[in-house]
Amino acid sequence: MFHEIRKYIETNLSRSRLEHSLSTALICVDLCSRFGVDEKKGRIAGIAHDISRETKLDDKMINLLNDNYLISSEEKLSPVLLHGRIGAALLGEKFNLKDNDILQAIRWHTTGHPDMGKLGQILYIADYIEPGRKHITNTLRAEIMQMDLNEMTIKVLNDRTAYLRDNGYRVAEFSMQLFDKLVNSGRIKNI
Ligand SMILES: [Fe+2]
Ligand SMILES: [Fe+2]
Repeated sequence: MFHEIRKYIETNLSRSRLEHSLSTALICVDLCSRFGVDEKKGRIAGIAHDISRETKLDDKMINLLNDNYLISSEEKLSPVLLHGRIGAALLGEKFNLKDNDILQAIRWHTTGHPDMGKLGQILYIADYIEPGRKHITNTLRAEIMQMDLNEMTIKVLNDRTAYLRDNGYRVAEFSMQLFDKLVNSGRIKNI
């Protein structure tokens, strides 16, 4: 499955997207091994997550959505946010990918979502910190790598929402719901 998807990305997407996807897959495998998640799933989620990132998301593509979630107001405003959900639909159809952990991780890798599991958190983080990303320093990357999984996710959520707010964009409701869920689970653990 990994090689088939890799081939597809190599043929249909840009060189830089292929490099980003391969690099995300490597970080996913590393995080999966640290946090007890199936590494094979991490590798597939990493290589496949941006499969629809370079596709024009017109109504025809949006009709492919098969995940029973409504389209949020943020997604209506910025259809590019849908590339995870549309990618998951495409992977199901084209590659018969049925693993729900992988599909949920890919669906929500852009905004995060309270329904995504540990693999979803891992992909969300890996997508943001893979070494090809120039927006974070090596020091910050190393700092993040010392954290536990929920701390890492909260850190990336905080950085991403700060960036959005600073640049006048709306923060997706799902991101805030995920943030609340993680913060509350930490509180319960500490009681
Ligand atoms: Fe993406
Ligand atoms: Fe990505």
